Amino acid sequence: MTFLTRRKSIDAMAADAHGERRLRRTLSWPHLMALGVGAIVGTGIYTLIGQGADRAGPAVILSFAIAGVVCACAALAYAEMSTMMPAAGSAYTYTYAVLGEGLAWIVGWSLILEYTVVCSTVAVGWSGYATGFLTSLGVHLPAALTTGPGGGGLVNLPAVLITLVVAALLAAGTRESATVNALLVALKIAALAVFVAIALPHFDGANFHPFMPYGFTSHEVAGLQRGVMGAAALIFFAFYGFDAVSTAAEEAKNPGRDLIIGIVGSMAVCTVLYMVIAAAALGALPYGQFAKSAEPLALVLRSVHAPGAARIIAAAAVIALPTVILAFMYGQSRIFFVMARDGLLPRALSTVSDRTHTPVAMTAFTAIVVAVVAGVFQLGQIAEVANSGTLAAFVAVSACMLVLRRTDPDRPRVFRTPLAWVLGPVAIVGCIYLFFSLAHLTQVAFLIWNIVGVGVYLLYGRRKSLLALN
Ligand code: ALA
Repeated sequence: MTFLTRRKSIDAMAADAHGERRLRRTLSWPHLMALGVGAIVGTGIYTLIGQGADRAGPAVILSFAIAGVVCACAALAYAEMSTMMPAAGSAYTYTYAVLGEGLAWIVGWSLILEYTVVCSTVAVGWSGYATGFLTSLGVHLPAALTTGPGGGGLVNLPAVLITLVVAALLAAGTRESATVNALLVALKIAALAVFVAIALPHFDGANFHPFMPYGFTSHEVAGLQRGVMGAAALIFFAFYGFDAVSTAAEEAKNPGRDLIIGIVGSMAVCTVLYMVIAAAALGALPYGQFAKSAEPLALVLRSVHAPGAARIIAAAAVIALPTVILAFMYGQSRIFFVMARDGLLPRALSTVSDRTHTPVAMTAFTAIVVAVVAGVFQLGQIAEVANSGTLAAFVAVSACMLVLRRTDPDRPRVFRTPLAWVLGPVAIVGCIYLFFSLAHLTQVAFLIWNIVGVGVYLLYGRRKSLLALN
């Protein structure tokens, strides 16, 4: 069983980043911050804010705060680890170096789940705004083609199409994609600013009573998760994305500076933004009226008699939400890339195209799986599944940060997490608490995914790992 604990050395990782099968260093901090904000602000704040309010009532503001604090603590651990190991692969790579191959495989396998399902979730959220936008223009898509079988339709066709478009953009080359991404991020933020400017003057404090109608802890009522923690476990989705920046570590020009600004900066900007948007939405309209909407922010604006602004926010969502899919699909193809380079997945998967310097085959494979999941499943279900994989990765990174402080205290750290022995445990305990606040079905799905993963590892990776061959 020693294979479970064999570790890749941190120095070997730096060598990988300079070896033959490496990605080009083309990104600096504005690109990474755009990638971060581009990945964080998405379906979470644009759409899941409604379902979150449904679970917690106005106390969803508290849910935002809880999820934000846990994510901020994990973000600091990410910053410390990614600047020590500026090699692609994020949580998987750090776990491989610190906790060994067995746990690294589980983390990598969880990341594959996370990244795939996040892309699908955002594609479904995008579809909600796209359908609403077209309806406002008088174009009505057949209902059977705008939702999957779980919602009474056949397939969510807009979600499938947007997935394929983003994959094509990504396969064309990192740098081009990152620049387009930066412009779209600006648009997304501007639209949210318009939302706040229009909704806030309609603020009515009465909408905040009763503040916590379903209590604090997560519990199931008639098949629906309720309570502040139930909402926090769902809208946790809105906060992550900074981890996608660390998967780009190998492509950063100056990893020490670029990654800290990219990860911590984008996290801070988004947290402030969300609190303001949630307050504006809840103040403008009783939460029950937008809770079940597929395009809640547009609905709030229509309700305060600003249909033009509603159309603007829908258009911005339609144009800019794909940046989130872009960032996570980018992260996904690179997780595959690194796991294949380590021998845990077939090495043919890590081939980089001569023309675009991107892992084209991997991107295509990812896109197909994302499109199928997006075409079939419902938003809330898949958002929770994505969260389960992410929470596992956050626990691992925070644990790696603490373990390495003990086992390798003298290794130079470009960035040190402040109060590591307080904030690290807050991240770990917080993520575990959020995991157990997810719906029971989600927890079971996560478990099954990892049982399959362990099977794949025992049959393939355990023997094919580069560390087994050496
Ligand atoms: N944080 C990202 C979103 O909300 C995943 O879409």
